[in-house]
Amino acid sequence: MNDARKRAGITALGAYAPPKIVTNADLEAIMDTSDEWITTRTGIRRRHVAADDEFTSDLAFRSVEDLLRRHGDHALNGVDMVIVATNTPDALFPATAALVQERFKLRAGAFDLLAACPGWIYALGTAKAFVESGQCNKVLAIGAEALTKVVDWEDRSTAVLFGDGAGAALVEGVPEPYGIKSMVLGADGSGAHLLHMRAIGRCLPNGAELGKHMTMNGREVFKFAVRVMDTATVQAVAEAGLVPDDISLFVPHQANLRIIDAARERLRLPPERVVVTVDEYGNNSTASIPLALAHALDGGRIAPGDNLLIVSFGGGLTWAASVLTWGPWAEARRA
Ligand SMILES: CC(C)(COP(=O)(O)OP(=O)(O)OC[C@H]1O[C@@H](n2cnc3c(N)ncnc32)[C@H](O)[C@@H]1OP(=O)(O)O)[C@@H](O)C(=O)NCCC(=O)NCCS
Repeated sequence: MNDARKRAGITALGAYAPPKIVTNADLEAIMDTSDEWITTRTGIRRRHVAADDEFTSDLAFRSVEDLLRRHGDHALNGVDMVIVATNTPDALFPATAALVQERFKLRAGAFDLLAACPGWIYALGTAKAFVESGQCNKVLAIGAEALTKVVDWEDRSTAVLFGDGAGAALVEGVPEPYGIKSMVLGADGSGAHLLHMRAIGRCLPNGAELGKHMTMNGREVFKFAVRVMDTATVQAVAEAGLVPDDISLFVPHQANLRIIDAARERLRLPPERVVVTVDEYGNNSTASIPLALAHALDGGRIAPGDNLLIVSFGGGLTWAASVLTWGPWAEARRA
């Protein structure tokens, strides 16, 4: 039985980015853009792109395989819930999470969660609630995204921004002083029209085309992002009972270097306390924070007892931020 009094925390992590890389120079060859425009406006230099026959479920599987490589085959023992946060599920139903459950033969419930880019933090928050209430013992929380399949490659204002990838975390009860110390989850649906991809309803403005591509008002999303990265991080740090200087490592959503820098400056954190991977991966939505965490682990930048601050924003509009104290499982780097 789970000890419901225990705080939930991440005990294992895995991540995956597909090997195919598209550089800014590759994009220059197919659309009216330039490496200079993309790097100065966004910080992005390359993005990893799924193969034609590689979908969100495949990326999710790979991230779980990476978790198993880092933590051993027994790591999934006792998983009783699988959550996949994604905006690009293989199908509207069944849930991509059910495909993960079947692939790893888990005796677990499974569902997908849609909260745009902050989806993985929402999944962590859901996992935390499941574990701390005693509903579940061990939750597999995945963020997986095949965004390049829904990007309009004829729209240079969005096509250059996105990439594909996946990250997976195990969430279970952990001893003091570790675990997830705060969880800020927010939404403002009045901005739904600013970043969207229409499915089967009519909630979006006239002219929003059914289904194939995402649409974004970049300038408005930028302003929203800078504002909410500030308020959500301040709230998450305060709710954890900390001050910004207690944050060992800031791991923000990797959408745009200028947005990351603005948030870092508001928190008065030095650059060495911020993880930046947007240059390598672009924005891969729900995968961006677990991939950045794995990158920091592999670089030896996370140690037991470190307070990590994560934050994300996206379509909805939604936002999420959390402070977690990393446990002694930090040394589980990629073999
Ligand atoms: C998209 C974004 C990079 C655009 O940067 P910006 O400084 O706001 O640029 P603007 O939208 O003002 O566009 C400036 C010009 O560049 C042009 N442009 C747009 N994309 C371009 C590209 N890939 N290459 C070259 N020029 C481009 C525009 O057409 C515009 O030209 P104009 O002035 O002649 O009309 C920026 O708004 C952004 O990052 N927004 C947030 C997006 C985001 O993070 N979304 C994901 C949320 S999870």
